[in-house]
Amino acid sequence: MHDTWTFSAESPLWDQLGGDGYSLIDAFLSAEEVERSLDLIHRREEEDRFQSAGIGTLGDYQKNRVIRNDYICWLDPSLPDHPLQFFFDRIRELIQGLNRYCYLGLQDFEFHLAYYPAGSYYRKHLDSFRGRHNRIITVVCYLNQHWTRGDGGELVIYPEQGDSIMVEPIAGRAAVFLSETIPHEVLEAHQPRFSITGWLTKTPLGTGFLHQQSL
Ligand code: OGA
Ligand code: MN
Repeated sequence: MHDTWTFSAESPLWDQLGGDGYSLIDAFLSAEEVERSLDLIHRREEEDRFQSAGIGTLGDYQKNRVIRNDYICWLDPSLPDHPLQFFFDRIRELIQGLNRYCYLGLQDFEFHLAYYPAGSYYRKHLDSFRGRHNRIITVVCYLNQHWTRGDGGELVIYPEQGDSIMVEPIAGRAAVFLSETIPHEVLEAHQPRFSITGWLTKTPLGTGFLHQQSL
């Protein structure tokens, strides 16, 4: 018996992603894994490794901070004995499933830790543009152990068909969606909000994507 998500042909994920373009997996991480992830976040915070997420994308810092004002710290899965090894293993399993049941041909992934201080948000956006073909699937794993309604920071997903979906960023839950076609946003957080966020890609990334400070 597993208490976290494991690769299985019966998982509703494959059909939901193909049909609606998104899926939620509760207990993608166990309570203990959430704890370990938060430990790493706090360590990286103490080491001052988080950077404002607006930097290094469009080159227009002010404008970027209007679109999003969270903080991120890139992860390097090639670090020996990485404290999030269990997480990378689960992501590799997820990739295997997506390739087997959704024929996505995914080859690699890139993830960062994300920290939204109270007052932070990320306006409606897409993670990738059609035609560029790099980021195919977005995965956001939430680490908010004491999240309660009113804390804000919900993910809003806008599927191609039907009403928008509000996702509460509760610990252990993963939101998985198509990076190129599903617009989404993060509503203003009223409490500090933590996640591991990243992308499954069609092309191998090597290490070129890593920022100098990444870990
Ligand atoms: C992102 C993003 C969603 C979330 O980082 O691109 O959309 O719920 N994150 O944190
Ligand atoms: Mn996004």
